[in-house]
Amino acid sequence: MVDGKTGIRLVDVSDAEVLAAHLARDRASFARWEPAQPDEYFTVAGQSARIRRLLEQYEQGRTWPGVVLADGVVVGQATVGTVIGGPFRKGSVGYWIGSPHQNRGHARRASALLLERMSGDLGLHRAEASTQLENLASQRVLRAVGFSPYGIAHDHIFLNGAWRDSLLWELTLGD
Ligand SMILES: CC(C)(COP(=O)(O)OP(=O)(O)OC[C@H]1O[C@@H](n2cnc3c(N)ncnc32)[C@H](O)[C@@H]1OP(=O)(O)O)[C@@H](O)C(=O)NCCC(=O)NCCS
Repeated sequence: MVDGKTGIRLVDVSDAEVLAAHLARDRASFARWEPAQPDEYFTVAGQSARIRRLLEQYEQGRTWPGVVLADGVVVGQATVGTVIGGPFRKGSVGYWIGSPHQNRGHARRASALLLERMSGDLGLHRAEASTQLENLASQRVLRAVGFSPYGIAHDHIFLNGAWRDSLLWELTLGD
């Protein structure tokens, strides 16, 4: 799926090298917003193993693990996680964009494409997301694609050395 210069597609094991390079370069700056990971996570082998696990979960219908493309080059990830069916039919949106590619609208366009996929192929009814209270860039992305904040989960996530509150976001998708 492509919107202008931004596309999304399912992650592939061949993306391990470029994802590891982005994540290793941005390890320090992402530490404020993304959960801590072991050193292995920032290697090609670690990313290959992670992508294999994500694709197994995809086969089980639990996630849609995507990469974000800028003019065909992988610049980040956009994922639907925690897919729940039954009476809920919902999933949780997550993303990151490599620092050299930020502030060019890639996260906004990738999120819009992800939402189309959620209400289309994935047949979901509701999208959720969570951000840190201070993550204003991520909050602008979510607002731009139609999410609204609906509450605060206290001591919700262990991030950057402490339990942090999360701002919770929701969007009802078209059926
Ligand atoms: C959050 C993130 C995904 C945004 O990606 P991006 O491609 O730069 O996002 P976009 O360019 O689509 O939009 C960014 C918006 O935030 C705004 N912004 C950027 N930095 C900001 C800041 N420090 N304060 C307020 N707004 C900011 C931009 O102006 C833009 O808003 P606009 O379109 O209204 O002008 C990216 O910064 C990132 O990967 N951060 C680290 C990991 C992370 O935070 N992941 C999300 C966890 S919830």
